[in-house]
Amino acid sequence: MSTIIKNTFGITLSGESVYQYSLINSKNTIVNVLNYGGIIKNIIIQVANGQKDLVLGYDNLCDYESDTYYFGAIIGRNSNRIKNAEFKLGRKKYTLEKNDGNNNLHSGSEGFHKRVWNSSISDNSLILKYTSPNGEEGFPGNLTVTVEYTLNDDNELKLKYTAKSDRDTVVNLTNHSYFNLDGQISDDILNHELKINANSITEINNEYIPTGRIINVKATPFDFNSPKKIGERINSESKQMVYGNGYDHNYVLNGSGMRTVAEVTSKKSKITLTVKTDMPCMQFYSGNFLDKVVNGKYGKVYTKRGGFCLEAQRYPDAVNIISFPTSILLKGQEYESCTIYKFTNE
Ligand code: GLA
Repeated sequence: MSTIIKNTFGITLSGESVYQYSLINSKNTIVNVLNYGGIIKNIIIQVANGQKDLVLGYDNLCDYESDTYYFGAIIGRNSNRIKNAEFKLGRKKYTLEKNDGNNNLHSGSEGFHKRVWNSSISDNSLILKYTSPNGEEGFPGNLTVTVEYTLNDDNELKLKYTAKSDRDTVVNLTNHSYFNLDGQISDDILNHELKINANSITEINNEYIPTGRIINVKATPFDFNSPKKIGERINSESKQMVYGNGYDHNYVLNGSGMRTVAEVTSKKSKITLTVKTDMPCMQFYSGNFLDKVVNGKYGKVYTKRGGFCLEAQRYPDAVNIISFPTSILLKGQEYESCTIYKFTNE
């Protein structure tokens, strides 16, 4: 198991202390996590000729405070989009921030990714806790959330989420790390080979909003049931690819319970990321909006498709689409989910 070292990272503009927790295992893999947004700032693995940092992000706190890409962050209460930034629970209508055109994305501009979490170390885990007060970002209920980060000696980084609310509310948590398995200093991820164990995606409209239809990926550019290069069909003229400006789609994952749902390999670095989760869905986002992010770590300028995201989560906009499995957390009910990112290099 790993040792965990706490260091001061900075002070937010509102005067709150932010710490960086370094989880270090017996392979000298280093995962740095901030209690600001629960951000995974670095995943550094040892390779033959040195080491590679596999995630995108920034070197300092003020860049994270002004970030609009959600680099490495915990997303909540609700990840993905909510149509028209509104939903009904019972007879009450709730209105949210329209921070993505006419819709709500990732709960709004002050969601969990921008909050300072209480942090503590327990055994070999980093525990982050946050209580989102009733009405925060427009959502009902005092919601207490815990995210536990554990790094074991097999290079498995486990994120375990739990949540509870004193009123019925919406909960759909995820992590928004951008990975580049050639090391975050390299350019794009189009040659990474991707496998996703999913036979369908939720169809989107031209605002990335789910239509409620679930479409089979067979014989489409979205079929990753056998490994394919991310860039192989990314410029296809298919309507869904055009609407997504590339891959920015929610996969309805095969199976249920904790299972392997995706595998990504860079032939160049010979590093593989395997994703396991108990979630029903996963957003695959190919970094289409990254465009000259000039303040990347180590002075790196991130460009389009410089990283990819695999955001395990519940069905998108399920609070408005009754045919989708629910994203409602009932009063007093316990929300639990777990996602594991495993890194191997030949
Ligand atoms: C999610 C969305 C994308 C994009 C990113 C953040 O992955 O699906 O459309 O908004 O967040 O840039």
